[in-house]
Amino acid sequence: MDLPQRTGITVIPTGAALGADVAGFDLAKPLDAAAFRAIEAAWHGHLVLRFRGQQLDDPGLLAFARRFGDLDRAPVHAVGDTDVDPYPEITVMSNIKVDGKPIGNLGHYEAEWHTDMSYNEKTPIGSLLYALEVPPAGGDTGFSNLYRAFETLPGELKRAIIGKSCKHDSSRTSVGDLRKGFKDVADPREAPGAVHPIVRTHPATRRNALFLGRRRNAYIVGLPLAESEDLLNRLWAHASKPEFAWYQQWKVGDLILWDNRCAMHRRDAFDPASRRLMHRTQIQGDRPFFDPATLAA
Ligand code: OGA
Ligand code: MN
Repeated sequence: MDLPQRTGITVIPTGAALGADVAGFDLAKPLDAAAFRAIEAAWHGHLVLRFRGQQLDDPGLLAFARRFGDLDRAPVHAVGDTDVDPYPEITVMSNIKVDGKPIGNLGHYEAEWHTDMSYNEKTPIGSLLYALEVPPAGGDTGFSNLYRAFETLPGELKRAIIGKSCKHDSSRTSVGDLRKGFKDVADPREAPGAVHPIVRTHPATRRNALFLGRRRNAYIVGLPLAESEDLLNRLWAHASKPEFAWYQQWKVGDLILWDNRCAMHRRDAFDPASRRLMHRTQIQGDRPFFDPATLAA
């Protein structure tokens, strides 16, 4: 898709269920209103945007992210002193250790499918992840289109979830580490974390997406535990189908912007002997909601 000439921006879809490259744009330079609107429209259409070959420092990353709204502070991770970046809105994602201490979060492990910070009452609308160092292999990040996941659900499953809400466990990170200050959860019904509608209406596109957040310790409110587990297993089996996904193979200078309202993500593990360093920031959002009027048509 070519955007109006004056923005100088070209959007090249990946050809998969979501994702597009945005070319012809240097993020370190100021962005005029027309260019920003073009990027935002591409983001709403493709859910995940990739900007390759960027050269950004932390203030540059934060300045671009702020065009989309106020930023959230970094989430609580497993170890209190991992996040060495001086900017409170930046989360360091890295397996690198200095003097035996991790400088960032998630290590080299696989991260399971999740939506960032979905366990909060107000959840970030989007996240930006910028690659500073990448391993020669592994550590790919997968994104999944949750509009498609919702639209293709069998009718019986759709009917089972419309109007229902799910609890999003806040005690563990997406690699399964217990967050600092949290207790282990034995029963998902007792898990700490926010409750959100399972079918979520995107405030800008008005399209509905499946909003699962994370599998571990999830609970569909009001159902007996065994029924909740069974329904969640069926929803996850559907949502994690490869046909809804696209995988990013990182190069240094890649910036990825994703929409947490309609896409989730995961990460492959990589060789702990190699280095991977990413800086992430997250755009503040509001409470996820479901608008029944979207189904009336
Ligand atoms: C994140 C995340 C995956 C990755 O930053 O929210 O899940 O590829 N990162 O590091
Ligand atoms: Mn994440």
